[in-house]
Amino acid sequence: VSQTNPGVGREQPGRVVVRSLAAAGPGGPGHALTQSWSLPRGVVHVWSSSLEVPPEHFEQYIETLSPDELVRAGRFRFERHRRQYIAGRGLLRHVLARYLALDPRRLHFRYGPHGKPALDDPAEARWLRFNVSNSEEAALIAVGRERELGVDLEVVRPVADIRAIAAHYFCPRERALLSIAPRERQHQLFFKYWTRKEAVLKATGDGLALPLDQIDVSGMPRATPRLLLVPDGSGVSRRLCWLDLPLPAGYAGALAIEHAS
Ligand SMILES: CC(C)(COP(=O)(O)OP(=O)(O)OC[C@H]1O[C@@H](n2cnc3c(N)ncnc32)[C@H](O)[C@@H]1OP(=O)(O)O)[C@@H](O)C(=O)NCCC(=O)NCCS
Repeated sequence: VSQTNPGVGREQPGRVVVRSLAAAGPGGPGHALTQSWSLPRGVVHVWSSSLEVPPEHFEQYIETLSPDELVRAGRFRFERHRRQYIAGRGLLRHVLARYLALDPRRLHFRYGPHGKPALDDPAEARWLRFNVSNSEEAALIAVGRERELGVDLEVVRPVADIRAIAAHYFCPRERALLSIAPRERQHQLFFKYWTRKEAVLKATGDGLALPLDQIDVSGMPRATPRLLLVPDGSGVSRRLCWLDLPLPAGYAGALAIEHAS
């Protein structure tokens, strides 16, 4: 995992690069067609951004949304959530468009059985894999090549019913480690496990159909991503890697990537 890298597209295979979109240079994601970004094989880019975007970007983002995305935006009850959804989709379209040197309006999404979005048409975009996560006003967009991936971001905050949630979703080892952690570290540890599990279920796209309490993500982070065998309910196990993302204090984030077989 690297946080500082001189330029998009110059990384070595096996790297996960975390970058802020605000630092992506003049024009940010808005200049989809002027300069494209490259993504070497075996590298994953994780872009972080705020969903509080300037009004001129917001207008630009609305223009790129498809009719079904606009319908979905219209269904939000609260204006704040509507704006976050529009900003998130607009950002996603602009980021993906820069890798593909396409107009963001040309991108079409299809959805898996549990709602995971993927690029459909145009055909030249099908190698690209992505996943997004939002927490409050913050967003992460992970982009890779060919291998499925999942990302999760959470603001670390007090949760009243940690034990009840852990009893439902955590495996016995994770529950035990949580219960012996010093009280002041419990929320941090809870969100560490939570984001790892969410990243895994978002990589498979299975949503809560995945038996999360049978998946152990309590291992210590290492320099290289950790391998995990994930049962998919049909008796077949999938091979994934997960790792924690280096994020500012107050956030927890994890990435899971399909392992090359
Ligand atoms: C989408 C889901 C997988 C995660 O939702 P979430 O954590 O609330 O939201 P995030 O911000 O991390 O991710 C939302 C994005 O993931 C993507 N997404 C939607 N369904 C997805 C799926 N099945 N797989 C992967 N990604 C999915 C979409 O891009 C979505 O963004 P959009 O709403 O703007 O279209 C949710 O449906 C879910 O099942 N959550 C499980 C919650 C839970 O109890 N987890 C226990 C963990 S211990």
